Amino acid sequence: MPATCVVGLQWGDEAKGKIVDLLGDGFDLVVRYNGGANAGHTVVVNGKAFKLSLLPTGVIRPNVTSVIGNGVVVYPPRFLEEVDQLARGGIDVSGSLFVSDHAHVIFPYHMEEERLLESGGEGKIGTTGRGIGPCYQDKVGRRFGIRVGELLRPDHLRERLKFVVPFKNRLMAAFANGHAATLKPFDPEAVATEYLGYAERMRPFVTDTSRLLQDSLAAGKRLIFEAAQGSLLDVDHGTYPYVTSSSSLPSGIWGGAGVPSRCVQRIIGVVKAYTSRVGQGPFPTELDDGSDGTGERIRRIGREYGTVTGRPRRVGWFDAVAVRYTAALSGADEITVMLLDVLSGLPELKLCTAYEIDGERHTHFPSDAYQLEKCKPVYESISGWSEDITKARKLTDLPAGARRYVERISELVGLKVSVVSVGPDREQTILA
Ligand code: GDP
Ligand code: IMO
Ligand code: MG
Repeated sequence: MPATCVVGLQWGDEAKGKIVDLLGDGFDLVVRYNGGANAGHTVVVNGKAFKLSLLPTGVIRPNVTSVIGNGVVVYPPRFLEEVDQLARGGIDVSGSLFVSDHAHVIFPYHMEEERLLESGGEGKIGTTGRGIGPCYQDKVGRRFGIRVGELLRPDHLRERLKFVVPFKNRLMAAFANGHAATLKPFDPEAVATEYLGYAERMRPFVTDTSRLLQDSLAAGKRLIFEAAQGSLLDVDHGTYPYVTSSSSLPSGIWGGAGVPSRCVQRIIGVVKAYTSRVGQGPFPTELDDGSDGTGERIRRIGREYGTVTGRPRRVGWFDAVAVRYTAALSGADEITVMLLDVLSGLPELKLCTAYEIDGERHTHFPSDAYQLEKCKPVYESISGWSEDITKARKLTDLPAGARRYVERISELVGLKVSVVSVGPDREQTILA
């Protein structure tokens, strides 16, 4: 059963989309199994950028079937917007895109709930504001969750919303605390009418995707699972509580796609040549060195602004302690080193090889955010390179400094490097 999983080994935005796209040609199905439109995956083909939040990256490849598994949380207007955006670009996804009837639906009250919780200051996570957390809460809480399949039964949906919405209105009024004036209660009937409109357009895409995937595996089809977010944002193993609400490791596949994880034979861990993070939470190697510092330079050259929210991403040096931890958790067989070109021109680069906590040296990653907060990075320095590397297509085209940097990452993480990326375009890739 030849399936592959592409997983981010940092805090997201490692350029997973580019790797999935590169592999896409050799696969029959690309599957999302976690998260929702909090993800932002950009793929550049011949200078043209495709930005996807909810749909799997496979949608831009002809002859690839794209699947949104049951573990994903779906915001219908976003789903339809992305379908329409592709249609405008000449890509027709009808018959090649499927969404699970078991996937949970994000409603406007989820976003409002999140807005209220995030605007309080205390307890802020720095979420993307896409209603992800509140929707997963309702899924796990069971009483208020509504699945995609339920959108297709109008009378049932009206009844469900008549029960759910008044409760949500009361809950939000209780949360509002100082924001009560800005709070507008939701009308169950209006929400039902709006969502029934989306449902009619979504109907042809909705199916039992778990069965579709099982049948595809049985027929010898080749699958790629595209993890959203990064391993350090995984709800169980990430830097809790500054994480997302789903399982972004390959372990999420079984629950989030309905096929056994053992069908995955190859796990590709994607890392940036440095580190980035969006939102709150500890980040030991963060470069917070002002407007003319190295951090700002990396942010500018790497265009480190969130695809979803436009927020400036926090950036820092490569953290080998964190990546050793996530490589082990995810079972990665290999790593791909992305955005190496962004580091060109820096005379000296740093790699974090250990942490110090209260004067004691540690080489294991403490995923608990409160412990991680106390970690001071221990760095090893390595000389940089000044050449532009965006035209390199083989390892031997890279200057010695860049080759040494990649080798050192490989040694520190303990995995081979299978791809080095030197620019956003599909072509700007070195197969190592
Ligand atoms: P994902 O969420 O993991 O798919 O990553 P994002 O798409 O959010 O962020 C990666 C960004 O880096 C995108 O804008 C890509 O187009 C871009 N990118 C990918 N690979 C490279 C690279 O090697 N060099 C540069 N400069 N940009 C890259
Ligand atoms: P991709 O797939 C980077 C971060 C948010 C926030 C935290 C929780 O593009 O790598 P949420 O809205 O999920 O409740 O926010 O997780 N986050 C991401 N950061 N890349 C992502 O996705 C992310 N998805 C969520 O910034 O810190
Ligand atoms: Mg992203």
